Parts: sequence; C-alpha cells; structure tokens
Amino acid sequence: MPADRLRSALRDSTSPLHRSLDDVVGDFGSIQAYTTYARKTHRFRQAMECALLDDDESGWMLDRIAWLIAMDVADLGTNVLPKTETELSFDTSARRLGAFYVLEGSALGARLLLRRAEAIGTNADFGARHLARQASDPMRWRSFLNVLENLPEDKHEAALAAARDTFSLALSIYSETADEFA
Ligand code: HEM
Repeated sequence: MPADRLRSALRDSTSPLHRSLDDVVGDFGSIQAYTTYARKTHRFRQAMECALLDDDESGWMLDRIAWLIAMDVADLGTNVLPKTETELSFDTSARRLGAFYVLEGSALGARLLLRRAEAIGTNADFGARHLARQASDPMRWRSFLNVLENLPEDKHEAALAAARDTFSLALSIYSETADEFA
C-alpha cells in the first residue's frame, strides 16, 4: 500500500473545494483584503478549534492558532468577527483526522500566503503571526502524515467525509458578506 494513500484520497476528494476556496479568498493584494481574510480565518479556526476541543485517541494534537489570528486582527486595527458555532461533530478518530488534514494542510499553503502578506507590509510580529507560525515547522506535516496513514482502511470514508465537511464550513465562512456576520 503506498505510504500516502489516505492523504492522496483526501487531496483528490477535497481539491474542488480547495480550488473554490482559493477563488473566494483571492490574492489579498491590499491591507483591506488581507484584513477581511484574517477575520474570516479567525472565525473559521475558532469554530473548528472549539469543535475539536475534547481529547481523543486519534494520536494527533492540533496546533491551536485562533488566539494568534486574533492578535493579527488586532494589529490590523479591527476586531474579530462574532463567534460562529458549527454543528459538525468530530467525535471519532477518523473524523478528527479528516478535520486535522484540512487544518494542518492549510499550513502548506501558508508559505505562499505569508509571502503575499509580507508584500503588503505585515510580518511575523505584526499582522501575519499565524501565517509565520504555520510556515515555521515544515516537519510537522510529515509527522502528521505518519499518524494519518495509520488509520485503518475501513475508517477512510469517515475521514474523507469529515475533511469535505471542514472544507465546506471554510467555504461558507470565507464566502460570507458583511451583513451575514451576525
Ligand atoms: C488563497 C488561499 C489559499 C491558497 C493560495 C492556498 C494554496 C495552497 C498551496 C499552494 C498548497 C500546496 C502546498 C504544497 O504542496 O507545498 C496548499 C495545500 C493545502 N491547502 Fe491551501 N491554500 C489556500 C487556502 C487554504 C485554506 C483556507 C485551507 C483550509 C481551510 C487550505 C487547505 C489546504 C490543504 C488541506 C492543503 C494540503 C493538500 C495536500 O494534501 O497536498 N488552503 N494550499
């Protein structure tokens, strides 16, 4: 069995959602656009980090960064968006690993996003703390994949569904317009 079989299935299964997310987020070529991105990222991350609060036996510990994104939002001179709660449940190791795939995987794109954010004047100490943190540990992804690939095959479908659920939640939050933030 190829070492990254589940990861490949996760990537294939979620790539259309990832592409839609890229389109919705856009290039954030201005501080205003980046600020909107940071506020929505906080909203998404906080909802997910709350939903994933309980300890479990998945073998992986999420790096919680919602608090860092809140600092970024404050650096940018605004406040975080109202909290949103998700009804999604991540109550099994398979579902948690599917969600972790999306959250940990977003660190791969963070290197690119950090370069864009730096081009408009933010950095690891101002406004882009969370991107710098995500980009700081390239070995973390490899460690995560080792845990992911230990999931028994009969649980893969559950992980795939949870990853799609997580991407769909992200897409709905990043697609929100100002009057939907309540
Ligand atoms: C404009 C916004 C985004 C861009 C430009 C972007 C870009 C990228 C890039 C370039 C990679 C591949 C990096 C590599 O292989 O070294 C990647 C991977 C990934 N990103 Fe994003 N990303 C964005 C937003 C997001 C968001 C908001 C999420 C999650 C909510 C996310 C989840 C993922 C995941 C799970 C992977 C890993 C895919 C795999 O298995 O290889 N991305 N992203």
